[in-house]
Amino acid sequence: MTADRALIESLITDVPDFPKPGVVFKDITPLLASPEGYQAAVDAIADSAPEKIDVVVGMEARGFIFAAPVAIKLGAGFVPVRKPGKLPRPVFEENFALEYGTETLTVHRDAIKPGARVLVVDDVLATGGTIGATAQLLKKLDVNLVHVATVMELSFLGGRALLDSNGIDSFSTIVTV
Ligand code: PRP
Ligand code: MG
Repeated sequence: MTADRALIESLITDVPDFPKPGVVFKDITPLLASPEGYQAAVDAIADSAPEKIDVVVGMEARGFIFAAPVAIKLGAGFVPVRKPGKLPRPVFEENFALEYGTETLTVHRDAIKPGARVLVVDDVLATGGTIGATAQLLKKLDVNLVHVATVMELSFLGGRALLDSNGIDSFSTIVTV
């Protein structure tokens, strides 16, 4: 394990029984509060890009925290994927299943030029619903999804299978639990 990865892992804090009994929440706020840890996470995600990136896409809300500094570091643009009712101009929408009920993500229809090389960044891959829905939005935009990167993957939730079914064959994470 690299020193940076060990540092990042040490700064992600387990919170038992949040948001409900039996769930162990992975809290990234100590990582964000550490100048060295936050920088190391942003650097690792930026370094994971396998080719030149035109646009970094981040998903509301925690994805924004990592995607925006990665975009600056790569000299790329930043495009937000947002929850419903937040974007002011015409959007594409994608629904996906949560444990109970459904969630919707949206993106402006003209947010990214067709064919642009896109890196998707989020804090965590859990069931894959968020990244899968984002991939569907990017298909509607007709862009080139080059890579997906997260700070953490909760492998026991099986999100990789959903990424596979969305045709995502380039994925990396820093910490796998
Ligand atoms: C959380 C997390 C990821 C997503 C991962 O977002 O930030 O985006 O869940 O779970 P999945 O792989 O099962 O989709 P959430 O919308 O819960 O909260 P946030 O607004 O704080 O990002
Ligand atoms: Mg999120």
